[in-house]
Amino acid sequence: MEVVVRVFNPNKDREGVEAVERICEVGPRDKLSLFTDLRGDPVCRIRHSPTFLMLVAELGNEIVGMTRGCIKTVTCGKKAHKHGKNNQAADSTTAKPMPVYTKLAYILGLRVSPLYRRMGIGLKLVWAMEEWFRENGAEYSYIATENDNFASINLFTDKCGYSKFRTPSILVNPVYEHRVKTSSKVRIIKLDQRDAESLYRLKFSTTEFFPRDIDSVLNNNLSLGTFLAVPKDSYRPDMWPGPTQFLASPPHSWAVLSVWNCKDVFTLEVRGASRVKRVLAKTTRVVDRALPWLRLPSIPNFFRPFGFHFMYGLGGEGPEAVKMVRALCGFAHNLAKEKGCGAVVTEVSSREPLRLGVPHWKMLSCEEDLWCIKRLGEDYSDGSVGDWTKSPPEFSIFVDPREV
Ligand SMILES: CC(C)(COP(=O)(O)OP(=O)(O)OC[C@H]1O[C@@H](n2cnc3c(N)ncnc32)[C@H](O)[C@@H]1OP(=O)(O)O)[C@@H](O)C(=O)NCCC(=O)NCCS
Repeated sequence: MEVVVRVFNPNKDREGVEAVERICEVGPRDKLSLFTDLRGDPVCRIRHSPTFLMLVAELGNEIVGMTRGCIKTVTCGKKAHKHGKNNQAADSTTAKPMPVYTKLAYILGLRVSPLYRRMGIGLKLVWAMEEWFRENGAEYSYIATENDNFASINLFTDKCGYSKFRTPSILVNPVYEHRVKTSSKVRIIKLDQRDAESLYRLKFSTTEFFPRDIDSVLNNNLSLGTFLAVPKDSYRPDMWPGPTQFLASPPHSWAVLSVWNCKDVFTLEVRGASRVKRVLAKTTRVVDRALPWLRLPSIPNFFRPFGFHFMYGLGGEGPEAVKMVRALCGFAHNLAKEKGCGAVVTEVSSREPLRLGVPHWKMLSCEEDLWCIKRLGEDYSDGSVGDWTKSPPEFSIFVDPREV
């Protein structure tokens, strides 16, 4: 029998896809495994992207594998704005860097049933997805995988022509039973969506992976808001001058981030923990709940399905920007606690200076999330940027919450 790769049909494939998802663990088997529950919606992790597709691999009447993909336009580099006012050539000190955009595709949720591995099904799914990417004008395709997932790394690098590109860090902080105290010297202002969009476009549009449709990200129902931290004495919320003026004369330090509600999209669950570990974790919660003023770092119940919030669009400037980020993370923790989440997660460039302000547990985090990239076409790119896959990493990247 031949394996057929075709477009996912929500009316008849849902159960088959869920069955494969349930038995697939991502990564090696010798440690705790993380299972994802897509809550009956196999397309939930891509449906917020502007263009997306889900493919299944079928053997006879059985679904034996699947993959998802999406395409959007992002920043892949920057160039100097060539002309100043009155069409005068701007010199290099006054030239404002402008983003260079590219059409980028992303492959995620590739799964093959353990009973049918090493039969070329994974490869067939990736090839079919790449064909769809090309048909839709994508110039690059990328994937993210754990750096110890050798099956996935070999498949993409050895067999499909991807190269290792970036290694951002996924930082995970548990949500405690107690509220986190935020610095009394920092004021947190919630920006409305239009101000948030302007601030991001003015300040971060040249950051690589910045989505050109940032407005649809910020306007999405899953986006819980954009928050700005400033020194308490610099602004009152009613004195907020708007993003342009704010950036023209900013306080000595500031930071910004946005929060995305992944909890309403899918849940996670840790399996394989011993009874001793579970009891220990429960004890920390009981103590933290009884004595919240001690601010004990309790371990949430990760052993049943839990949701999380994702912090994205992290940025800031000034000597105390790290402190501002820490205050924002405390605020985000308390928001996640209110909404019943088990964790707050973010992903930042491995070179991001502001990561020092992001509280996280090393044992829950992933220091090197491996992103591999491939150039699908040669015809589109702006000459001044050339081949993005060959460019060195920058200090920051913009991780799109729609692709978490
Ligand atoms: C990764 C995965 C999709 C591969 O599916 P698959 O159908 O077995 O892959 P293929 O048979 O097409 O293998 C193609 C190539 O990938 C590499 N590969 C696949 N499985 C591998 C393994 N266990 N160890 C090392 N290399 C492996 C090999 O280069 C292989 O070619 P070869 O068989 O000629 O040596 C599958 O193992 C899986 O579902 N894993 C769990 C979920 C996961 O990790 N997904 C990836 C997240 S990005």
